[in-house]
Amino acid sequence: MTKTAIYPGSFDPVTFGHLDIIERASKITDELIIGVLKNSSKTPLFSIDERVKMLKEVTKNFDNVRVESFDGLLVDFAKEKNAIMIVRGLRAVTDFEYELQLSQTNKVLNKGIDTVFLTTNLKYSYLSSSIVREIASYDGDISEFVPSLIAEKIRERIKENRDEQYSKQD
Ligand code: PNS
Repeated sequence: MTKTAIYPGSFDPVTFGHLDIIERASKITDELIIGVLKNSSKTPLFSIDERVKMLKEVTKNFDNVRVESFDGLLVDFAKEKNAIMIVRGLRAVTDFEYELQLSQTNKVLNKGIDTVFLTTNLKYSYLSSSIVREIASYDGDISEFVPSLIAEKIRERIKENRDEQYSKQD
């Protein structure tokens, strides 16, 4: 039986912290599907198609990793993919309460799916997509946090957003 796991998230944008979890999770599962959430309540920096495309690009060397978008409940997506496991990264104690609630809710919604936590590499324990967006918005150096290809896209998008804002003010 193929052991399929889902690694869900917003990935707006994907960071080295995510990639570390993807690499390690891909080693303990037969197949890892990165599930990119479509209906985020927040206004994303990148569209769902852009996020999927960027993730595909930076994970292309992992043979057993696929990237897909999903809408609705995570457990329904996991069931549709015959996954037995959801993978989440735990950075610090502050993540724990939300992650525990999420995993316990998902267990009630679908008893057949377990959540497995991988503790984040110490190197990336402080890192989050929102921190990367914030640094980039002030033109800070994000090369330590995301692959160069992603850094380039972030800089482009921030510039586009800024130009759009200025043109509205004119
Ligand atoms: O990267 P994030 O934003 O921390 O990921 C959160 C995610 C996508 C795992 C979570 O919001 C999610 O699973 N959303 C889908 C809706 C759902 O199933 N919610 C959990 C039960 S209330």
